[in-house]
Amino acid sequence: MEFKDIVMQRYATKKFDGNKVPDNKINELVELIRYAPSGLNLQPWRIKIIDDQKTKDELVPFSFGQQQIATCSHLLVLCANTDFNDVMNRVSASLKEAGVPDEMRNMLMGMAEGMNKSMSGQEWIGSVKAAVYLALGNAVNGAKSLGLDSCPMTGFNPEGYARVLNLPSHLIPTALCPVGYAADTPMPKVRLRKEEILI
Ligand SMILES: Cc1cc2nc3c(=O)[nH]c(=O)nc-3n(C[C@H](O)[C@H](O)[C@H](O)COP(=O)(O)O)c2cc1C
Repeated sequence: MEFKDIVMQRYATKKFDGNKVPDNKINELVELIRYAPSGLNLQPWRIKIIDDQKTKDELVPFSFGQQQIATCSHLLVLCANTDFNDVMNRVSASLKEAGVPDEMRNMLMGMAEGMNKSMSGQEWIGSVKAAVYLALGNAVNGAKSLGLDSCPMTGFNPEGYARVLNLPSHLIPTALCPVGYAADTPMPKVRLRKEEILI
């Protein structure tokens, strides 16, 4: 599928048909999300994948009753990993594993330390959430490229989700990406004219 077809055919699905997406497709989707870009390549996201009906049903009241949650095959809960040390440890280990020379790794780690020091706690959390939104972009376009439907969602209660999913406090549920096979009809694509967005 060409990227322009993915962009034009993807839409915010409101209802799925309940059919299960095979695990290998979900794994392929995770790969597409894993390669999303992030500032200094910190990849400050963690993703919880839920495919059991009971948990999805428990999350519906914390999702303003939106039926994507109960009807999707798999629900991806994209979380912001706000624990800077944890993020650093993971990235450092991954650079080591990839054989990146120590000098380069130390330089990258130093840049990240410097960036983090220059930010308030709230600014750090904001930057982590921005990274999660980029991962969300890969998720929804990636899903379409694999023949799946999805919906980007922030209409949910993060505290409720954290409670139901028993998440540690440094992981903030930031965006949802239910995936599956659509059981609705897309609305016509309406967008601002080019002249309205170009300055
Ligand atoms: C950050 C974000 C949050 C969104 N939250 C929801 C949501 O909670 N529920 C929903 O049905 N759609 C949600 N949407 C989907 C948008 O309404 C949709 O993308 C927009 O209307 C354009 O339609 P399209 O995606 O079908 O082209 C969200 C989209 C984004 C990017």
